[in-house]
Amino acid sequence: MNAPVSPAETLRAALAGLLDGLPPKAAAQAVDRLIANYRGTTPTDTPILRDRADVAAYAAYRMPATFEAVRAALDAFADVVPEWAPGSHVDVGGGTGAATWAVNATWPGERPVTVLDWAEPALVLGRELAAASPQLRSAEWRRARIGAQLALPAADLVTVSYVLGELTEDGRAAVVDAAVAAGRAVVIIEPGTPDGYARVIAARDRLIGAGFSVAAPCPHSATCPIVPGEDWCHFSARVSRSSLHRQVKGGSLAYEDEKFSYVAVTREPVAPVASRVVRRPQIRKGQVLLDLCEVGGGLRRSTVTKRQGLLYKAARDAEWGDGWPPAG
Ligand SMILES: C[S@@+](CC[C@H](N)C(=O)[O-])C[C@H]1O[C@@H](n2cnc3c(N)ncnc32)[C@H](O)[C@@H]1O
Repeated sequence: MNAPVSPAETLRAALAGLLDGLPPKAAAQAVDRLIANYRGTTPTDTPILRDRADVAAYAAYRMPATFEAVRAALDAFADVVPEWAPGSHVDVGGGTGAATWAVNATWPGERPVTVLDWAEPALVLGRELAAASPQLRSAEWRRARIGAQLALPAADLVTVSYVLGELTEDGRAAVVDAAVAAGRAVVIIEPGTPDGYARVIAARDRLIGAGFSVAAPCPHSATCPIVPGEDWCHFSARVSRSSLHRQVKGGSLAYEDEKFSYVAVTREPVAPVASRVVRRPQIRKGQVLLDLCEVGGGLRRSTVTKRQGLLYKAARDAEWGDGWPPAG
């Protein structure tokens, strides 16, 4: 019997077929155009993803990375609420649907799913890709513009993945407020840059102000201890590179690391981790250095030495983004 295929593998296979038939040069040019557009002045008044070539390039080039980043954020959230799984999901600015695949990877099973975006070609392609997933086949792909008029259907989980950076300040407030009104839990993901982090923190403040509790990554719902401008909270997700990636970016590395910032909040009671590893752990001879964000609201470096036995073993296995200390 064949092993069950994971959502990540199904998505990869669906994406692999996407650029079939396009000459490699045309695919690379579409990606170049996309990157140039994303470097331009955003927010824009009209969608950046305008046609099939744009969305195919986006899906083939960026979707594996946004999928892995969202999945990593959702996995951290799920660890904090092990008894909970979303019974319904709304993805705002969902584009080609990376977050719907990630939700499915973290919480397998069928649920009502609605994807909203203003770019029709993205929705069309997202629906086509979703046909490869038994759990996503019934998802609804609907056109909607983020703005003061935005009203979302009520859902257990609302995701906003790599969208805030394309919006004006008013647009960012509007999408967060719409998520507040509709969701039991809200997860926001942005690129792991100082600007992405700043947008996440502004959204986090707004969500806490509306009565949500932070489940991850923060061990608390108090003010973030990072001094703006000095540092930024971000994490890293490993992404296998496709042949298109290698073609566009050159080199032969089999993977690359997607840096992302995120916040996951809920209206349910939560007991977040006591502290979280906020940098890649540094392994030295006989010791591991862990940079932690702690429940008291502070940042601290902890040195775990060989003499600490089991804790040292755990520290050697600890990864950037993990809760600390490990359960048990
Ligand atoms: C970088 S893509 C992210 C797509 C997807 N969420 C992901 O994680 O891969 C940003 C998405 O936001 C959508 N978007 C940007 N501004 C929007 C607006 N004002 N209203 C609705 N959708 C918008 C874009 O069309 C695009 O699909």
